[in-house]
Amino acid sequence: MKKRYALLGTGSRAQMYLSAIAGPHADVAELVAWSDTNGGRLDSYEALLYQDAQRKPARFAPTDLARAVREHDVDSVIITSPDYTHADSIVTALYAGADAVVEKPLTTSLAGVRQIADAVRATGRHVLLTFNYRYAPRNSALKRVIAAGDIGQVTSVHFEWLLDTAHGADYFRRWHREKEKSGGLLIHKSSHHFDLVNWWLSDTPTRVYASGGLRFYGAENARRRGLGERPARGSLDDERRDRFSLDLRLDPELKRLYYDQEHLDGYLRDRDVFDEGITIEDNLSLVVDYASGASMAYTLSAHGPWEGYTVYVNGTEGRAELTVVERGAVLFDDAGRVIVDPSAHPAGHSADAVRPTSERLVVQRHFEPATVVPLERGASGHGGGDELLLQDVFRGVADDPLGRAADWLDGVRSTAVGLAGNRSLETGLPVRIAELELGVSLQPASRR
Ligand SMILES: NC(=O)c1ccc[n+]([C@@H]2O[C@H](COP(=O)([O-])OP(=O)(O)OC[C@H]3O[C@@H](n4cnc5c(N)ncnc54)[C@H](O)[C@@H]3O)[C@@H](O)[C@H]2O)c1
Repeated sequence: MKKRYALLGTGSRAQMYLSAIAGPHADVAELVAWSDTNGGRLDSYEALLYQDAQRKPARFAPTDLARAVREHDVDSVIITSPDYTHADSIVTALYAGADAVVEKPLTTSLAGVRQIADAVRATGRHVLLTFNYRYAPRNSALKRVIAAGDIGQVTSVHFEWLLDTAHGADYFRRWHREKEKSGGLLIHKSSHHFDLVNWWLSDTPTRVYASGGLRFYGAENARRRGLGERPARGSLDDERRDRFSLDLRLDPELKRLYYDQEHLDGYLRDRDVFDEGITIEDNLSLVVDYASGASMAYTLSAHGPWEGYTVYVNGTEGRAELTVVERGAVLFDDAGRVIVDPSAHPAGHSADAVRPTSERLVVQRHFEPATVVPLERGASGHGGGDELLLQDVFRGVADDPLGRAADWLDGVRSTAVGLAGNRSLETGLPVRIAELELGVSLQPASRR
């Protein structure tokens, strides 16, 4: 029998789940109900995926989730609405009798963690956190190396994540730019990275010291750098537009989902990244301690000329180094669109001038030559992670020696680092995770 799903929030992230249910997983999954605060986005997905009137999912108001779960006999609710809505939706879904599939982050607040912990305890229902990066073959390969003991007991990690001036800038255009709505990049974005480290090391964070600030985007930085008068948004015919302006009309997806629907709710997807009112950081550095005694030095910057990450893991027997370039350069085509894959060598740029996308995992044991670990290349999003993740979501969690499927407690473990980091930014002091009083014990994950 097909499992019955409801979905909340039909923005761009929802596309992956909606296409999976309508396509390769249609034999096991059915979307019976869906909701968005903007009916135009529902209309547009409906026209795309559900032309057959018989199969159209029922619509409900977000505030009617509990009733919709009961009325439509929903087994599981997929939550792809903005971060600040996750906790309420998870709790409502669980108490109404459904499980939940939740996009990261689990929640943006301490209160949210506590409410979710209470609801899981009270209902015994299941929450699947879709940490797709775990499934990227290169990240799974590093997990294998560490779990096999190839570098011994982990002593420390150096982790740098660089977001570029296209993708990184995007977090400063809409709701992500408000700390209250996204928790800042430490929650919204870094929860992926903190989860990876918790999972790679099978460990639990215990203390966080953070330093950071808004040093590139935002009105004050624009003034300091003499950027002059800025356009309010990108999708207007404004001669002040520049490389940081996003014209939604240039991308059919962005136009369909956002530009064409903004008259309904005033949600502007393309606000200027050098606006007033941005309350999140764009550069962050953390020191994180773990229960095993290992520590991590982590940095995130959101205005790189290229995008990717480097992870160096030191162990008692050697070291592993993972280097990933996800986009080698932010370049534009003649129409002003960002070229998604610059390694395709756009006109005017020689192969040498463009850093190709690449990934490399090197393991070096003490007193031995280094070896390069062969990596599979996934075709789907997030390094091939999305496709594998969807298998677990819709076909049941596979018996996976790597333990890639994540649950709500994994969500708490990663969110806790962001929450402690945010508190540390406020106080200037290191913060013990225990001080947060999360309302749940973060037992060290057993070594897998
Ligand atoms: N795992 C990943 O790699 C990844 C990538 C992108 C986004 N995400 C996550 O997916 C979620 C959605 O991101 P997005 O980029 O699609 O955001 P978005 O703003 O483009 O879409 C969110 C949608 O939710 C709707 N919405 C707002 N409030 C709602 C409510 N109370 N109930 C129902 N719908 C509501 C909005 O109208 C919009 O259509 C976020 O939590 C984000 O962190 C994860």
